[in-house]
Amino acid sequence: MINFWEKLPKPIIALAPMCGVTDLPFRTICHRYGADVVYSEMTMVQALAYKGKKTMDLVKILEEERPVVIQLGGNDPELFYKAAQVVAQEIRPDGIDINFGCPAKKVAGHGSGVSLLRDLEKSYQIIQATIEGAPRLPVSFKTRTQIKSVDKCSTHCSLELIEKVKDLPVAALMIHGRSFEAPWIETVDYEYIKEVRKNFKGILLANGGIYEPEKVKEVLELTGADGVGIAHGVYGRPWIFNQIKELLKTGRFEDLTWPQKRKIALEHAQLAFEAKGAHGLVELRKQLLWYVKGLPNATDYREKLVTLSNLEDIKKTLLEIK
Ligand SMILES: Cc1cc2nc3c(=O)[nH]c(=O)nc-3n(C[C@H](O)[C@H](O)[C@H](O)COP(=O)(O)O)c2cc1C
Repeated sequence: MINFWEKLPKPIIALAPMCGVTDLPFRTICHRYGADVVYSEMTMVQALAYKGKKTMDLVKILEEERPVVIQLGGNDPELFYKAAQVVAQEIRPDGIDINFGCPAKKVAGHGSGVSLLRDLEKSYQIIQATIEGAPRLPVSFKTRTQIKSVDKCSTHCSLELIEKVKDLPVAALMIHGRSFEAPWIETVDYEYIKEVRKNFKGILLANGGIYEPEKVKEVLELTGADGVGIAHGVYGRPWIFNQIKELLKTGRFEDLTWPQKRKIALEHAQLAFEAKGAHGLVELRKQLLWYVKGLPNATDYREKLVTLSNLEDIKKTLLEIK
């Protein structure tokens, strides 16, 4: 087995998985601007196991974006086994990740994502089945701090899951330092992640609340993690990875000028078009708004940006914005 995680330079600065955001074009642009590893959007195992065409298209990867990790979601160990086989044989990413953190009703409400923390036996079987389905790929998982029991009388912590699976070769773990019950609180529990560090021997990534490059050093010091995973902080600035690295190395980083940002936004648009055609540009619209956020005259262009669907118009409009 080739465990790419062990070969990454530390600290590892990762693009965290985000449904509707971390598609192939976005992962590629993040990789170009410094992400050490990129995670796909969560993909449900039932769709992968039966190789649904739409799903197979969604999990395609580019050689350029490696190392890339495909994240699986679901709650049936047998389907995780089949999906891991399909991913390993047909998609050939560098790793597979399992989602034990999603709080969305349509996921957690059906016994997947974070609610798996309530069923340690099944969680064990899911990790084991994934490892067996893809024996040549390193398997990781991503989780939150905790979830309350169904009757709210007790709490299920991710430390219990880590203890439960300690005999399995889990290569890496990304821990989002928030609970299911407080999904978007301001204060992320970095102390909890520090506890996880003491109990997990593989590669540990701390996640949550990193919105500025300056925060990374603090989080690494507080948690003792091998790296960080960034989600919201990447909105409209895939170059944040390079800025973080520059800051850690030299103590300062350069902000980009709008023309430099525009060049990257156009590169992103080109990748979206190559990957998905005009539909890719429709999907890109929300990200175009993120790119221009904060520019003095951006509000004048918001309405226009959400109607654009060809590369020429996107270029023309971005060039008009000063
Ligand atoms: C739009 C969106 C989609 C997300 N989708 C996923 C997902 O597919 N899988 C996952 O494990 N976490 C997902 N997350 C959670 C993030 O990976 C991350 O844990 C969370 O946003 C906290 O990190 P942040 O404070 O840097 O945003 C998603 C978050 C957002 C905002």
